[in-house]
Amino acid sequence: MTPLPKIGTARLAYETGHGSGTEADRGLARANSLTIRDCCKTYGAVTAVRDMSIDVAPGEFLTLLGPSGSGKTTLLMMIAGFVEPTAGDIFVNSRRITLLPPEKRNFGMVFQGYALFPHMTVAQNIAYPLKIRGTPKAEIAHKVNEALDLVRLRGMADRLPRQLSGGQQQRVAIARALVFSPDILLFDEPLGALDRKLRGEVQLELKRLHAELGATFIYVTHDQDEAMTMSDRVAIIDGGRLVQIGAPSELYERPNSRFAAAFLGRSAFIDGRLVARHGEEAEIAVGEARVRHRGPVPPLADGAVTLSLRPEKVRIGTEPPERGLNRARGTIESVAYLGATMEIAVATAEFGLLLVTAFSAQLGTEPATGTPVWLSWAPEATVCLPGETAA
Ligand SMILES: Nc1ncnc2c1ncn2[C@@H]1O[C@H](COP(=O)(O)OP(=O)(O)OP(=O)(O)O)[C@@H](O)[C@H]1O
Ligand SMILES: [Mg+2]
Repeated sequence: MTPLPKIGTARLAYETGHGSGTEADRGLARANSLTIRDCCKTYGAVTAVRDMSIDVAPGEFLTLLGPSGSGKTTLLMMIAGFVEPTAGDIFVNSRRITLLPPEKRNFGMVFQGYALFPHMTVAQNIAYPLKIRGTPKAEIAHKVNEALDLVRLRGMADRLPRQLSGGQQQRVAIARALVFSPDILLFDEPLGALDRKLRGEVQLELKRLHAELGATFIYVTHDQDEAMTMSDRVAIIDGGRLVQIGAPSELYERPNSRFAAAFLGRSAFIDGRLVARHGEEAEIAVGEARVRHRGPVPPLADGAVTLSLRPEKVRIGTEPPERGLNRARGTIESVAYLGATMEIAVATAEFGLLLVTAFSAQLGTEPATGTPVWLSWAPEATVCLPGETAA
């Protein structure tokens, strides 16, 4: 395995006293790879996870993102060892762990509502996993302090959980999950109960912790902003299947399906038919209208395509747009004022409802509904997806 660069490992290093030489200079966590190979989980007639294969690199921050019921927790529970796969295998650093019990996996876990022990102080809560592992007392004290520093709670060691805010409690849970040098850290919606602002703060803390530890993080959320903010890569999951995996920008710029485009960010969809190709450019017929698309066109069974058009790539104006751009006339149907930006829905005759995101400062006044406008977008603005025939 290739160790990733770690920040501040010198400060984190400790002597285990009884470990091997390499063990001794390890920090609070290590970078391990995880391989999920053809994993399935069925519950009677319900298939919670199907044919799941994912390779997680050592030190990677991977997020499993999907709607409720898509199988995220089931997959995480299989990784943790609480749920046995119906089929498939799981490996850590190419060691098969599929049937290894959870307590032998040495994974750190933080779950939503995975409560702290209410009668124990912060320090006692964090010390707990070390205690049950029989770690010597002096070493426990040392490691607890290290973990407290890492989550920036040094001054709160003697408080009880109820004397802490929600965000601080979650940081204690995080400290408890990493204090015993876990091989991999697993998180299942750990910030779900926090308010928006606090969530943002703890997200940044987690990201910093990840960089500082250099450990492998697997994080479950159904919040796309959270996934985009924190992850090296995101795995989009739907109906127990892996839809697409990639860096946030890759998923946003090059979604492979309508589901991925709609789940990560907003998009309008234009259904049409491929009628001609000229080099890099494709001509798409949408009723009587023609749209120019520049970029890849996936293999098509029958010429049916769906173009995904992100709202920030559409220009809006009252004057006809310059030649060379795709254009449409329409009327403003609704305007959502979001502060820095406005989201404008425009009804067009040819393409149905199109969405536009515009900077408020550039628009000046808020446009009125019913206003006739021109929309335009460059041929390279669209992503061409295989057309989905109505099932
Ligand atoms: N023990 C179980 N017995 C039967 N069905 C189950 C069991 N656990 C999960 N399921 C089903 O498997 C599917 C996936 O559930 P899972 O909890 O993994 O989804 P999730 O993506 O974590 O959803 P959420 O975002 O709501 O937490 C769901 O249809 C669920 O009802
Ligand atoms: Mg879940």
